[in-house]
Amino acid sequence: MTPRHFISLADLTTIELKQLIYRAIELKQHRDPDYTPLKNKVLGMIFEKSSTRTRISFETGMIQFGGSAIFLSPKDTQLGRGEPLEDSARVISSMVDVIMLRTHHHKTVTTFAQFSSVPVINGLTDLLHPCQLLADMQTYFEHRGDITGKTVTWIGDGNNMCNSYINAAKILNFNLNIASPTDYHPDDTLIASAQSNIKLFPDALTASKNADLIVTDVWASMGQEQEQQKREQAFANFAVTDKIMDNAHPDALFMHCLPAHRGEEVDADVIDGPQSVVFDEAENRLHAQKALLELLMT
Ligand code: CP
Ligand code: NVA
Repeated sequence: MTPRHFISLADLTTIELKQLIYRAIELKQHRDPDYTPLKNKVLGMIFEKSSTRTRISFETGMIQFGGSAIFLSPKDTQLGRGEPLEDSARVISSMVDVIMLRTHHHKTVTTFAQFSSVPVINGLTDLLHPCQLLADMQTYFEHRGDITGKTVTWIGDGNNMCNSYINAAKILNFNLNIASPTDYHPDDTLIASAQSNIKLFPDALTASKNADLIVTDVWASMGQEQEQQKREQAFANFAVTDKIMDNAHPDALFMHCLPAHRGEEVDADVIDGPQSVVFDEAENRLHAQKALLELLMT
């Protein structure tokens, strides 16, 4: 039987995504130490990039569900010495029950999934970060209820997080305003697929008008460190400041997947202010991914 993978948020239907969000909220509210649906199951976690939240949330989630997780880095495995991805996927999936992969090229995760006999979860690629969206959506639902019909404003780089917000906008049917410099727009194919849900703006203030949620992310993602200076110039007018938050709906929330750079993409007053829910958002990685593991594996 072909395993069910989670490579993109688009792998879930609207109903499945909403059920997953409500299940994550339930798992958070009523933790039952005797509920161990993944007893003796093993998650293999391959990280080709750094991580705090993704690693800890998956590992803790597996332990809370009665299973365990193995951390694998290319530095310490034959993956880093050029063993073919296809062979690695066959071998690793013959020994573990589910695999999470954080990598650079999106193709790496799709190829890995193609050759894996167990579910593969995308723990972030240069194109998408779907696990983070599960947590972001859970956080919005917890604080404000259903996001359908609301307006979300993305400010900054059209990166893996922004691309994943486009998928979320389509699936949950909310309006997504994207304010990015021209050279840093999100993925063209995704833009084309979501015409009725997204609007591109050249400036952050116009895009934030009456928004229910303001979201941003770092200006230079992992792997783009050498572009930091160039990006600081390009994004100088795309920081989330009090002025942006004041232009949004008075009830608007602020989210950031973290790690954040205070004084760059977001002012300290905003990320540490009353509208920010970034630490709930980070914690919800644990609950949302437990709901995801349940969906894929039970
Ligand atoms: N937001 C997120 O994915 O964090 P980590 O890079 O720490 O996993
Ligand atoms: N866009 C960021 C997200 C980090 C969780 C990156 O890819 O580095």
